[in-house]
Amino acid sequence: MILQQVLLSSLLFPIASALGACYHPGPAFPPIDHILNKTQISRLAPKLNEVVQKVLRNPEDWTTNLTSFAVLVTSGEDTVWDYYHTAPILGDYTDSKATNVTENTAFRIASCSKSFTVYAILIENRINLEDPVTKYIPELLEGRDEDFIFGKSLQVAWDQITIRALASQLAGISRHGGMSDLAVSADEVPDPIAMGFPPVDDAALAPCMKNSKDRGCSSEEVVELARDQTLIFAPNDQSTYSNAAFSILGIVLERVTGKTYDQVLRSSILGPLDMKHTYTTKPKDSKGVIPYGPNDWAQNLKADTPSGGIYTSVGDLGKYLRSILISKLIPQAKRNAWYKPHSYGPGAKGSGYGMPWEMFRTSKVTPDGRAIDVITKGGALTAYYSTIVLLPEFGLAFTALVAGNPSALMDVREKVLAALVPAAEQLIREEMRIVFAGLWASASHWNGDPILNWSLKIEVDEAGPGLIVKDWISNGTDFMKIYGKLHGMPEDNSKWSARLLPTRIYPEFTGPLRGEPYQNSAWRLAAVEKQDPDKADRVFEDYCFADVDGLIYSGLSIEEFFILKLPREPTGHMEAAWAKNSGLRTVWRRVEDGEGRRLKFHGEEDHYERYGMAQMPMFG
Ligand SMILES: *[C@@H]1O[C@H](CO)[C@@H](O)[C@H](O)[C@H]1NC(C)=O
Ligand SMILES: *[C@@H]1O[C@H](CO)[C@@H](O)[C@H](O)[C@H]1NC(C)=O
Ligand SMILES: *[C@@H]1O[C@H](CO)[C@@H](O)[C@H](O)[C@H]1NC(C)=O
Ligand SMILES: *[C@@H]1O[C@H](CO)[C@@H](O)[C@H](O)[C@H]1NC(C)=O
Ligand SMILES: *[C@@H]1O[C@H](CO)[C@@H](O)[C@H](O)[C@H]1NC(C)=O
Repeated sequence: MILQQVLLSSLLFPIASALGACYHPGPAFPPIDHILNKTQISRLAPKLNEVVQKVLRNPEDWTTNLTSFAVLVTSGEDTVWDYYHTAPILGDYTDSKATNVTENTAFRIASCSKSFTVYAILIENRINLEDPVTKYIPELLEGRDEDFIFGKSLQVAWDQITIRALASQLAGISRHGGMSDLAVSADEVPDPIAMGFPPVDDAALAPCMKNSKDRGCSSEEVVELARDQTLIFAPNDQSTYSNAAFSILGIVLERVTGKTYDQVLRSSILGPLDMKHTYTTKPKDSKGVIPYGPNDWAQNLKADTPSGGIYTSVGDLGKYLRSILISKLIPQAKRNAWYKPHSYGPGAKGSGYGMPWEMFRTSKVTPDGRAIDVITKGGALTAYYSTIVLLPEFGLAFTALVAGNPSALMDVREKVLAALVPAAEQLIREEMRIVFAGLWASASHWNGDPILNWSLKIEVDEAGPGLIVKDWISNGTDFMKIYGKLHGMPEDNSKWSARLLPTRIYPEFTGPLRGEPYQNSAWRLAAVEKQDPDKADRVFEDYCFADVDGLIYSGLSIEEFFILKLPREPTGHMEAAWAKNSGLRTVWRRVEDGEGRRLKFHGEEDHYERYGMAQMPMFG
């Protein structure tokens, strides 16, 4: 880019678009439910079956005879695929008989419980996330035992810790409340003194920690333990995982609602989503799966349940994840905020904590190498391992629950994700080509009587994300050239492309349709430069910020597109039929599909006869 252009651009346009380097501005596609119907999405199932069969034939570091698992993939609408494996050798069922694992089988989900606690806080909508936790639990500020030699300066300043900091692992408090102490961990430390630990007075242990067989602290004990916590990091400085934070959030929820944690979950989540196989205390053994060997099936986590105590099934988690994907229980704006990270992981490029999400970005699963957000939560209790995973860009989510060996969880989640994303993307790309690609022209062209030379050619980019506008002629000028120039793109148009980015906004259509089904969607065009391989290792190649909609013509954006889908004749298949560009005051009609076949849509003669193309009302 020559200097003169940079100066011009920085004057006219936001600086990031002139100086930044975003080669893959996402998202590439609308979520899967907006592109494919249920039957089409079900084509993912054979691929996933294949993958899981491979895992079972060749498990990585675990054996199928001792480990059971359940895995389920869902879109915003419905389950896409599920699979169940019951270990032939199970553990001890004491109050009822073992059953095979199904979508209703309860596993312990351990720390995935934390997401239920945050979800309930968001749904209840009575707790200001910016409030200090001491607004709800003032006792946290009461005096503490001062028996640490260096302890004073490390006292936790509870009044500086907000609900948000607790929920996003930024409180800087200790990992454990009353859940873990080596002095009473007979499995790991059977003989402390012989192993080199000093003798201790067990008065230093919280009362609820003393009986290692029936551990589990009450709310009072959780608060007492919290009061005696030593600070790890200053609040909101460095993130670090804390179980204790979520036990405290559970108490906040109980106090604000005047209900027990179990009652809060039932009224806010389990009832509205009809989740009938979710429990906060151990159900009958036959309702779950108990693995062979030591396990925490029967462990009552008491006041630490909001941090790790829930039992649930993949069927129920499917409902749970769908409700998040379609923001069924909280407003969309709030759900969108919930999807965001609050801090980077230490040293990690693209990992960070949300509330309580463990999020990362990966470019290993997309065919074009673009990064996608993977929003997860994982959980582990002895012999129970779990994960929930949301892929907002795809509108897909999955969960895997394991009873047995932790390697099974790592094996299944890795292979399911690595297969799911490319398979979903392939289906989406195929359908995008059918639905959007082709030649778009003014009505006169369509009528075989060209008055204005005014057209668009849209393609699905095989080498990059999403839709690209290939040719763009506006009243006889090569507008693509103009558009690139206005964005300071290279003259050589093989070095950049004009991408249509889905906004995930679906406006009502206000034009003349007589009851025909339609889908209207808003898009933004962006000029995207290809990466120069010679510059790929420069530091500022990592500097990338979204900055769309820079070109306004007489008050309206020339990068704002609306695309209206209508039923194509004779199949009734919903395909893009009309497009509008606001700034250019232009409406196009899709005249040929990607294969060059002429298109006809339900009811379109009426539009033409009644309104003519030129008078086609602006829509959006
Ligand atoms: C889903 O879309 C396919 C492909 O367009 C079509 O053949 C099928 O009838 C549709 N199915 C449903 C249930 O709408
Ligand atoms: C489970 O399978 C593995 C390998 O297939 C075998 O070595 C092991 O003995 C089996 N365990 C039991 C308890 O049968
Ligand atoms: C579990 O499934 C296996 C294999 O399909 C079957 O042989 C067995 O009878 C089932 N057990 C129960 C308790 O349903
Ligand atoms: C198209 O271009 C011609 C010639 O420059 C101009 O007179 C006319 O106003 C333009 N029409 C539209 C609709 O832009
Ligand atoms: C339309 O305009 C383009 C770009 O100026 C030009 O190449 C093409 O020949 C024109 N087509 C017609 C039918 O006038």
